[in-house]
Amino acid sequence: MSPLSGKNIVLGITGGIAAYKSVTLLRLLVKAGAEVQVIITPNGKEFITPVTLSSLSGRPVISEFFTANTGEWHSHVDLGLWADAMVIAPATASTMAKMACGVADNMLVTSYLSARAPVFVAPAMDLDMMAHPATVRNIDRLRADGVHIIEPAEGELASHLVGKGRMEEPEGIFRVLEDYFSAGQDLAGKTVLITAGPTYERIDPVRFIGNYSSGKMGYALADEAAARGARVVVVSGPVAVRPENPSVDVRHVESACEMLAECEKVFPEAYIAIMAAAVADYAPVSTAASKIKRERDEVPVIHLKKNPDIAATLGQAKRGDQVLVGFALETDHELDNAADKLRRKNLDMIVLNSLRDAGAGFGTDTNKITILRPGGIRTEYPLKSKKEVARDILDNITGKSPLV
Ligand code: PMT
Repeated sequence: MSPLSGKNIVLGITGGIAAYKSVTLLRLLVKAGAEVQVIITPNGKEFITPVTLSSLSGRPVISEFFTANTGEWHSHVDLGLWADAMVIAPATASTMAKMACGVADNMLVTSYLSARAPVFVAPAMDLDMMAHPATVRNIDRLRADGVHIIEPAEGELASHLVGKGRMEEPEGIFRVLEDYFSAGQDLAGKTVLITAGPTYERIDPVRFIGNYSSGKMGYALADEAAARGARVVVVSGPVAVRPENPSVDVRHVESACEMLAECEKVFPEAYIAIMAAAVADYAPVSTAASKIKRERDEVPVIHLKKNPDIAATLGQAKRGDQVLVGFALETDHELDNAADKLRRKNLDMIVLNSLRDAGAGFGTDTNKITILRPGGIRTEYPLKSKKEVARDILDNITGKSPLV
């Protein structure tokens, strides 16, 4: 049975071309056994008819404060209390601006202001509108107000321009809702910062120092934290993987310095920070402006400098209400090295994985970990999928799993 079965969902639809996808979302919700009340803005009705929506939901669609011919008043307060969740898909720049500022001039925004349930918003608009500082500001404000933003994807837009602004597919939005209701929401309202993947340190325009990290471990943690209701920011080095949960906010960086700068922006808001990235310890002192040519006799010498230690830097800045978790990738003297990093970087926990264990570490879909905490507290886990490992790590952080 779907975790959405029996749940009351308010589905808000605003005036964007992606409104046609809301029909699929509505069908998925109804099929899962949810009761769905559609609220559509006046502009939304230009894109999709209320008749289609009421036929599928089995309920009259609400758009205005009053039904014109009967004078019946629709209570936004009752709707706000009735809802177990509210999802607005598509959400236009205009609706998000009204939500961010509390401009209650239509039934949808008024119901949003009355809602006590979690609110999910799937923006959809042209790429320039999406990137405009006003939109960025409004989305940030909504996030700070606890709204779950379901990030739009990159792709071809209604304008035929290509970029970020395509509403997440209905199946993706449905999954976010299912995840929300299936997982224990022990991280609801919390921000979780995760680093993932390798860093690349440029030697010249075509070469870099890097490593084999695929990002799978970091992204599995991101999906698990998002499923538990967290607002998740992943600061990611160059990887091919993507989060499964579209609400995860991925910030792409290349080098260790860029990763540090992005982490420092997010860390003050973070309740938990998990450093799963394999950060290059060294970078070339300088990057050659053009490709280093293959010389006949000479072998070029690359001088290296130390990269900043991101985990240690955050460890210095850490407040008492924050949890900082590191990883240790070791090849020998595993426990001693991990315990040393736990102490030196001022971490609250370190997750040890050893390249000596088959199926652990870089690139695999599995991992075998031991969690160390200050005071010699140690928990060993068998080989598991990285998804299960992510669950174990978050259970350990939130105190759900026993400490051994
Ligand atoms: O990405 P996958 O292919 O799924 O692989 C997962 C993983 C093996 C990369 C992951 O499980 C892991 O172990 N990540 C940490 C790898 C690493 O760099 O370990 P380390 O022992 O060198 O670093 C210790 C800790 O300090 C780590 O949390 C690391 O992110 C952090 N660090 C290291 C160096 C540096 N300059 N800055 C840092 O923040």
